[in-house]
Amino acid sequence: MRNRQETFYAMAKNKFNKSWMNRHLRDPYVRQAQKEKYRSRAAYKLKEIDSAHQILKSGQLVVELGISPGSWAQYAVRKLGYDTQGKVKGELIGIDMLPMENIPGVVFLLGDFTEEASLQQLLDKLGGRKVDVILSDMAPNLSGIAAVDGARMAHLLDRVLEFSRQCLKDSGAVLAKCFDGAAYNEMLVQCRAQFRSVARQKPDASREHSAEVYLLCKGLLPGAQALENE
Ligand SMILES: C[S@@+](CC[C@H](N)C(=O)[O-])C[C@H]1O[C@@H](n2cnc3c(N)ncnc32)[C@H](O)[C@@H]1O
Repeated sequence: MRNRQETFYAMAKNKFNKSWMNRHLRDPYVRQAQKEKYRSRAAYKLKEIDSAHQILKSGQLVVELGISPGSWAQYAVRKLGYDTQGKVKGELIGIDMLPMENIPGVVFLLGDFTEEASLQQLLDKLGGRKVDVILSDMAPNLSGIAAVDGARMAHLLDRVLEFSRQCLKDSGAVLAKCFDGAAYNEMLVQCRAQFRSVARQKPDASREHSAEVYLLCKGLLPGAQALENE
């Protein structure tokens, strides 16, 4: 039998779940995603940024880090386009620690991007080809302590930037999630040291109370690859 404290927590949890569910069902992006058959409302974050900045184009080679459940990928393959046989033009290679249901035209790798073996698998799939666009919607596990979470996010972004120095075309673009909080300025400085342009993005579909923002980085600066060995 539950004691009073356990009953209180169970009731509070139930109330929280109900209010989350109510908000979720009222959310216009959730309804839109159901209508357009996207796996999650997150698709509209990428769609809004891409519509404003034309990042994704037909026939590109795209890598997505943290691809599951796959709504960005669904949007991205639609932008890559299809040939007359219905085959996706270009290629999207994605990696995630969580499994993902198949999306035609997407090569999926299961693994932690920050682990050497998984990164190597991704590099093997690329086989030396340079990438047009790198998308990253990854976030670290959150501790709830702003300074710790900021540092973890900065570390993850650092790995994304390192990957982009290795694999991105000089004219390519990176769209990466980061947090507007502790370490934000540090992340911005890191991106600016490597790219010609860096623009902060907070799409309408990204919840207002969330610290999540995206950095859209375009055009590797000459000498960016040399940062590799610093
Ligand atoms: C917000 S979700 C991505 C949602 C995706 N953009 C979509 O629209 O469906 C973030 C994903 O990043 C993945 N992730 C976080 N850190 C990762 C890492 N180090 N390696 C691989 N995947 C990671 C998580 O497992 C999670 O599925």
